Amino acid sequence: MRLAVLASGTGSILHAMIDAGLHIAVVVVDRPCRAVELATEAGIEVVTVERTEWGGAFDRDAYTAEVVAALTGREVDVVAMAGYGTVLGAGVFAAYEGRILNTHPSLLPAFPGWHAVDDALAHGVKVTGCTVHIATIDVDAGPILAQRAVDVLPGDTPETLHERIKSVERDLYPATIRSFVTQLGATG
Ligand code: GRF
Repeated sequence: MRLAVLASGTGSILHAMIDAGLHIAVVVVDRPCRAVELATEAGIEVVTVERTEWGGAFDRDAYTAEVVAALTGREVDVVAMAGYGTVLGAGVFAAYEGRILNTHPSLLPAFPGWHAVDDALAHGVKVTGCTVHIATIDVDAGPILAQRAVDVLPGDTPETLHERIKSVERDLYPATIRSFVTQLGATG
């Protein structure tokens, strides 16, 4: 099973996957980011499919086709999104149906979207958490594979809460990916 990781941010989730010993064939990024250095240091191929347009000018389908070409060209079987900053179009979900995983910093279906941690705090919830799910064309809505709860503490800021959630994601996501890949390998 050849695993690709899609990342854009600090790459701490990617780092955890590498530390967990997951075999990662390629890391795809949409912008210059710390994930590039982490992957390079670990000897993993990095492909940059740079996003250069935003708003109405962005051709999501054309961009997605470039990502799909990068993945299929490297014979990738499973894709793990780890803080990828671009919502991909239908093409990737057709090419990798049921084989794209995502980790999200809330207990879905609560608080989907890019501001999940801020939204949970703004709502005053006492417990939030993280969700590993199969990604579909509907953002943050695919079948749930694993969840873990995280308490919201008095005085939490978006940063402190997100960091506490991420420390759980760093454990839950690699473990869930490992069992998903193992199961896929066993069943084809
Ligand atoms: C994680 O919280 C993930 O759930 C979200 O983006 C964050 C990525 O963190 N989609 P990092 O850039 O790997 O530190």
